[in-house]
Amino acid sequence: MTSFEIAAAAGMDAVREHDLTNLAVHMRRLDETALLGIARAVSADRALAAGEARSADEVMHALGVVPRHRWIVRRWLRVLAEEGKLTAVGDGRYRNLVTGGDGEFTAFDGARRALGYPPELTGFFLECIARLPQLVRDEVSVQSILFPDGDFATALGTYSHNIISTCTNRVAAVLVRQILTASPSRRVLEVGAGIGGTTAGVVDELDAAGLSGVDYEFTDLSRFFLVPAAERFADRPWMRFGLFDINTEPDRREGSADLIIAANVLHNAHDVDVVLARLRGLLAPGGHLVIIESCREHYQVMTSMQFLMSGRAGEPRHEFTDFRAGTDRIFLTEHEWVDRLTAAGFGVGPVLPGAGGPLAPLAQHVFTARV
Ligand SMILES: C[S@@+](CC[C@H](N)C(=O)[O-])C[C@H]1O[C@@H](n2cnc3c(N)ncnc32)[C@H](O)[C@@H]1O
Repeated sequence: MTSFEIAAAAGMDAVREHDLTNLAVHMRRLDETALLGIARAVSADRALAAGEARSADEVMHALGVVPRHRWIVRRWLRVLAEEGKLTAVGDGRYRNLVTGGDGEFTAFDGARRALGYPPELTGFFLECIARLPQLVRDEVSVQSILFPDGDFATALGTYSHNIISTCTNRVAAVLVRQILTASPSRRVLEVGAGIGGTTAGVVDELDAAGLSGVDYEFTDLSRFFLVPAAERFADRPWMRFGLFDINTEPDRREGSADLIIAANVLHNAHDVDVVLARLRGLLAPGGHLVIIESCREHYQVMTSMQFLMSGRAGEPRHEFTDFRAGTDRIFLTEHEWVDRLTAAGFGVGPVLPGAGGPLAPLAQHVFTARV
């Protein structure tokens, strides 16, 4: 077996106790529940709900959307139209909003369970849906719903305790161990490490392999995550913790890392090509980049986590300056990632888990790229 086949098999083994049939149906159920929530939030525009044709600006004015969240509501309207819940009239206006009954929200919990997410996720998601009117007006923050009293349980459920993250985190851990085993120098930079959902499996794997000389720098844009991480990984003296923003020029030497890990963070790049070139510059010759990314838009993310991607409160959002400019979309498809990595001069390995497998509907993948 190749090293990629071994990593892929380890990922599937990690989810062997789950029923992997019908995942597409369960994902669709989450999407449909989110669409209902979006339609209900948008129906706060009484004129739209009464059947009048309304522009996106008029809807946003009626909802009181703050500037930094306008992109989210614009995207909601486009998605409602694509899904047949709203009619685009053709002059930039919409009409015929379809809303459903509250009873349909109960379908979420069954799908949540089937996809391996913990019960906290249902509460988090339904609370976000119920609070969409306040979220778009910045009267409540998604952080206060996601991290009640600084508790990471819901966030961990979203990023690691579910079928697809269990698989992709395991794949990444095995790939990282293989890469470092074969490398004489073992300087690791993890960017956007956050709550450490990927880190935990990686460092356990490195410990179990008994690799010596690993220098692991756990970084994030936000200081909020660094103290909990330093406490959680205090028994690993080879780990360091620091700030790193993928969108600014790093104050570190070119070629100072042998491996960069970026799990669920690179879609925050203002310009994907600029950021990939920056990360490539930080890698030593022969160095590797291991990425985890969601490769499709999940509607339940549009009603919750996307509020974390609007920039700072009180400031307009920083628009993407790459090919996503003007589209209000965030996530790149699998093919777009392979194209951008190739254009940045990386050699790209097989994408895992691959298309056609039972996890394909969940659309989260691990990419391995080499300088
Ligand atoms: C979706 S979370 C993923 C956390 C972790 N990697 C995981 O998968 O469990 C995204 C993380 O990226 C961080 N982040 C967002 N923008 C960033 C940027 N410009 N540079 C570095 N990190 C960033 C956030 O603070 C957050 O911790």
